[in-house]
Amino acid sequence: MLKTLLARVREYKLPSILTPLCMVGEVFMEVLIPLIMASLIDKGINGNDGQGDLNHIYITAGLLVVCCLLSLLAGFGGGKFGAIASTGFAKNLRRDMFHKVQEYSFENIDKFSTASLVTRLTSDVTRVQDAYQMILRIAVRSPITLIFSLIMAFSINGKISTVFLIAIPILAVGLLLIMTKAHPVFERVFKRYDKLNSVVQENVSGMRVVKAFVREEHEIEKFKGVSKSIFDDFCYAEKVLAFNGPLMQLCVYGGMIAISWLGAKAIVVESALTTGELMSLMTYAMQILMSLMMLSMIFVMLTMARASMERICEVLDEESSLKNPENPITEVKNGAVRFKGVSFAYRKGGSLSLTDINLDIKSGETVGIIGGTGSSKSTLVQLIPRLYDVTEGCVEVGGYDVRSYDIDSLRNEVAMVLQKNVLFSGTIKDNLRWGNAEATDEELVRVCKLACADEFITSFPDGYDTYIERGGTNVSGGQKQRLCIARALLKKPKILILDDSTSAVDTATDAKIRKAFREEIPETTKFIIAQRISSVQDADKIIVIDGGKINGVGTHEELLASNEIYKEVYYSQQKGGDDNG
Ligand SMILES: Nc1ncnc2c1ncn2[C@@H]1O[C@H](COP(=O)(O)OP(=O)(O)O)[C@@H](O)[C@H]1O
Ligand SMILES: [Mg+2]
Repeated sequence: MLKTLLARVREYKLPSILTPLCMVGEVFMEVLIPLIMASLIDKGINGNDGQGDLNHIYITAGLLVVCCLLSLLAGFGGGKFGAIASTGFAKNLRRDMFHKVQEYSFENIDKFSTASLVTRLTSDVTRVQDAYQMILRIAVRSPITLIFSLIMAFSINGKISTVFLIAIPILAVGLLLIMTKAHPVFERVFKRYDKLNSVVQENVSGMRVVKAFVREEHEIEKFKGVSKSIFDDFCYAEKVLAFNGPLMQLCVYGGMIAISWLGAKAIVVESALTTGELMSLMTYAMQILMSLMMLSMIFVMLTMARASMERICEVLDEESSLKNPENPITEVKNGAVRFKGVSFAYRKGGSLSLTDINLDIKSGETVGIIGGTGSSKSTLVQLIPRLYDVTEGCVEVGGYDVRSYDIDSLRNEVAMVLQKNVLFSGTIKDNLRWGNAEATDEELVRVCKLACADEFITSFPDGYDTYIERGGTNVSGGQKQRLCIARALLKKPKILILDDSTSAVDTATDAKIRKAFREEIPETTKFIIAQRISSVQDADKIIVIDGGKINGVGTHEELLASNEIYKEVYYSQQKGGDDNG
């Protein structure tokens, strides 16, 4: 896991090395300063038989100033390089994760929820960034301070320094106890964060539905529940961590008293210590205990960051389940589609969503697909642009298995208007040009006329430059569908798949769109999934699908004569008027 993460430091290796170096410099100065102080007091103020040595005072004071400045400089450098290294590292992590997500197949995306991907890319990365900075600065600094200070303290007076040998274990055991109690709570809290994020995300993106169903109260309750559990857990964790302070103070003040007492005795009774040396000892004592404190904080940070690191690595290590073949075919010859004994399951070993599908569709045909919700209509057509790979059998486009094509070339020739279609924020023109970045304005108008979108676009005050809000909330469902169809047409595909793409368009416009297709793009193979029989009845072939199996294939007349499901759907729609699908 560390290897995966550290590989992302890349161009920030230099600051990552400079930071700890600066910290070592800072520590060195900090250790040196008490020594110089001792000399200043003992030789300068108290020296010369109590007369004081002004010359020595000047020299040591000057040295002190230089050391302080150097320490300041090193501290500043450490802070600056540390910030560059950690934010750079985070930037690289985010970049790599984002690129990886772009490579994901539909199957990969099914595995992570959107909320979880968002949390991983944002707060998890931030947590790792903080931990990285801490490690570079304090994880190097604290142990060095600890060791240096201990050595210095022992070199001044070994007997008194044994106080540390008692205080350190007490502090260590206390911290360990606190940590082991707090750690599992933190792990739990981060999982709850995911939950909180998904609740918020679901609510915000589905705000309109929530309002329409007057479910605000319910949503608020749901949020309260998750929020409360995070509050409780954090309170508990912080309560445990709060023992850190008193424990540390106990050790520091206990140590101070012990050192003062032993030191005073050593000065007065044994004359084995000078006042200056006692001062330095005190300073070292503070430094030793502070660095222990810092180490304990790093420990907390690391336990918190470990969960995040794992979650980031999961994203980075996920292999796209769709790979280009060795020598891919880059040209799709025609729009013929053939399914040969195709079975498909969304999860390996899971239940089959499609069973033994055999179809033979010639280039240029119009194919209607009819079936109840959940009968696997969308699943069937998703196999054509290879959004998923078949579990068994094979799907051929233009006479070759879809798996032998270069994925991008295949998808450029197979345009699909998804059932859950999305417009992105930007002008109508921007959105249309997703289909073909080089399309001229005349082409845009031509495809919009085909999709019956031109009429409403020109009625907007800004026409084709009308700004579409995020998620396409400022156009109606039917308008959105027509824009999505136009966008797909701009690709000039050999195969066009409309997955329930005219459900929100009135029947007359629907018929107009189909007529335009027939006349303007006769050589394109068209798949039309629809709820209304009227949308498919003039197709060359209609496929009736039920429970993932083909129930019947034929023209409108043939199916009406032979297929029970088709007959039933047809007559029920005749009775209720044909617009209730
Ligand atoms: N991404 C997915 N992961 C797992 N199961 C899915 C996924 N999409 C659809 N399914 C399942 O496959 C079946 C067929 O769904 P779908 O093809 O969307 O039906 P239709 O388009 O005919 O309404 C359903 O039982 C549905 O639950
Ligand atoms: Mg569907």
